[in-house]
Amino acid sequence: MEQAERKKAEALVFYGVSGDLAYKKIFPALFDLAKIDQHPKLVIGMARRGWQLSDLVERARKSIKEHGHYDEATFEKFAQTLRYVDGDYRKQETFELLYAALEGTEHVAHYLAIPPSMFQAVVEQLANCRLAKGARLIVEKPFGRDQQSAHELNATIHKVFPESSIFRIDHYLGKSAVQNLLAFRFSNTFFEPIWNRHYIDSVQITLGEAFGVEGRGRFYEEVGAIRDVIQNHVLQIVGYLAMEPPVGTYPEALRDEQVKVFRMIRPIAPTDIVRGQLSGYRNEEGVAEDSEVETFAALKLYLDSWRWDGVPFLIRAGKKMPKTAAEIYVKFKRPPLSGKVGGLTNSIRLRLSPEVQISLGTNMIDAVDADQIVQRPLEATSLEGYGRVNPYARLLGDALIGDQTLFTREDAVEVAWSVVDQVIKHPVPVIQYQAGTWGPEEAASLAADVGGWHDPT
Ligand code: BG6
Repeated sequence: MEQAERKKAEALVFYGVSGDLAYKKIFPALFDLAKIDQHPKLVIGMARRGWQLSDLVERARKSIKEHGHYDEATFEKFAQTLRYVDGDYRKQETFELLYAALEGTEHVAHYLAIPPSMFQAVVEQLANCRLAKGARLIVEKPFGRDQQSAHELNATIHKVFPESSIFRIDHYLGKSAVQNLLAFRFSNTFFEPIWNRHYIDSVQITLGEAFGVEGRGRFYEEVGAIRDVIQNHVLQIVGYLAMEPPVGTYPEALRDEQVKVFRMIRPIAPTDIVRGQLSGYRNEEGVAEDSEVETFAALKLYLDSWRWDGVPFLIRAGKKMPKTAAEIYVKFKRPPLSGKVGGLTNSIRLRLSPEVQISLGTNMIDAVDADQIVQRPLEATSLEGYGRVNPYARLLGDALIGDQTLFTREDAVEVAWSVVDQVIKHPVPVIQYQAGTWGPEEAASLAADVGGWHDPT
């Protein structure tokens, strides 16, 4: 599939402007775009709050001061672009007001940061009110709650928008550290030749969060860790680590390789899954007393491919872990001189957040005892700048110019769901774990044959 001709969107209509995501991520991202003169001429906030434009402006100011890079001069310019439309997304009159507010603008991007249950109503109203023609649709996660619902959602949206106009957001793809995985693999002569089953023993991905569900109990009850971060963020990382080199000569090359990885993931055996629930989670507001929802999950994946046959990909994510960190740990097979190096294997540690670091576990002689081989990290230490770019600014900027490369394609979102479909439909029982631990002890057994989990420090 070719990507549509790129025309910059003149207006962004933002559904769910009074929400948490808008406050924490989207206003700061749009503001970052304003700083580099890449924001749209018009940003229309939509909500059903009975707000006036001044309420929206003040909310934006507060959000950017708290979560962004505020400065007065840019804000003056930014505030001029803001408009507010109030109303019920199910009512035509709301969209008639929107139509009037958009008068004279071309190539509108509609950004749905609202619950998926509302997508259909909005998309239908956009069609009814002649607001869909030539427009783009940006959709937030979660995109469905299993393979079937994602398929239905795709069908609903496709009645109005062609795939070339749809931008499904996974903010992990907007992170520089995640993008850097591709550069790290494919722009370095010394990694790609060893990036396969002949040299790599195992791969681990940990997405740890030291905080809990933080008042999002009701939302979390609907999703759990597997739907919330594994089906999307973690699988995207697996894709970038495992894909074949994209043939950089056509626009869909990267997304083609990404979806191939998802297709290669073998059905996961129940013995390769551990679901954990934080002790005390059931006392959170909005959480059922007998909730079986997981706040932690660890899975062992195998990829049926020429490159990865037999290499386990161990992935885990959880709330109230000892540390907030997203980290990849690649363990290599031991070198032949095993007597001399005492079985020490090489490794690559890629910290994606909160700070960005790359560290190669390298064997060398001990400074004092030259008969001893010890492991020392070779570290890339000046990568601070990578963490500073707001991934939403990158993604919204791309969506506004119509570049779909970093967005999840229709087939990818459905195949990613298929990877976890059986896991969520026939869940293994949840096991309680204590706050400040790396999940239930049972998770350790998944990594027993690769020398255990490598915990981010
Ligand atoms: C979101 C999840 O998609 O990603 C949250 O809904 C999670 O539960 C967040 O905390 C993690 O994103 P980041 O960028 O903070 O690692």
